[in-house]
Amino acid sequence: MRTILQAENLEKTYRVGRVDVPALKNVSLEVEEGEFLAIMGPSGCGKSTMLHLLGGLLTPTSGRIIVDGEDLTAASDAKRTDIRRRKIGFVFQRFNLFPTLTAEGNLRLAESIHSAGKDDPERRREVLRLLRLEDKMHHKPLELSGGEQQRVALARAVVTRPAIILADEPTGNLDSENSAIVLNMFQELNYRFNQTIVMITHNPEAAAMCKHIVQMRDGQIVEPAQNVQM
Ligand SMILES: Nc1ncnc2c1ncn2[C@@H]1O[C@H](COP(=O)(O)OP(=O)(O)OP(=O)(O)O)[C@@H](O)[C@H]1O
Ligand SMILES: [Mg+2]
Repeated sequence: MRTILQAENLEKTYRVGRVDVPALKNVSLEVEEGEFLAIMGPSGCGKSTMLHLLGGLLTPTSGRIIVDGEDLTAASDAKRTDIRRRKIGFVFQRFNLFPTLTAEGNLRLAESIHSAGKDDPERRREVLRLLRLEDKMHHKPLELSGGEQQRVALARAVVTRPAIILADEPTGNLDSENSAIVLNMFQELNYRFNQTIVMITHNPEAAAMCKHIVQMRDGQIVEPAQNVQM
């Protein structure tokens, strides 16, 4: 097994006015290639902060992050962006879709940013089909329901086949039917293509579909990588 994502002694303190808000306190984590990991824990415990650090969207106050052998924390801004675009697909807690583009246009934009401009209509259709969005591909975000927008955001994160998918509550706004579609897609990507997935979730049923669960509390990992009993 190969470690594809590694956090060493991560600390993150936000500064709000003159007040320091410690959001992560000395967190270390190793994620193997092909892992499907759930991160759970109460609101405000630092889950999103952790995921944004792992994905190079935030810089830590101290500590190190290694993505597929490359040190994110030692890299320049440009290099960090490059690593992120080559290796990581990010699903945000809020969708962040481009409002003037259609569902398919949002995927095409991701391809142009992440895959060195590769235009792959077949792949776009395949991903939209997996997420049952094939008849919505020409809709813009405001012409989609919340659940459909979330599925487009997911399609966008996976269309470029990133080695690592980081997903912040991907089923948070979805009903059980939509959640099942999303979770089945993750399982399929994980089993079929060995894509590594780290997913924040509040939902025990979603976590039960993962291979391991990490519990966080108050800026720390309290239960490292317990095995999910199937
Ligand atoms: N940009 C920011 N500036 C200041 N404080 C922040 C910022 N982002 C998060 N925090 C604080 O850091 C802590 C951790 O926030 P984080 O968003 O990581 O929690 P979370 O576990 O993802 O919560 P939730 O389950 O509600 O999404 C919280 O106390 C939050 O208020
Ligand atoms: Mg969060």
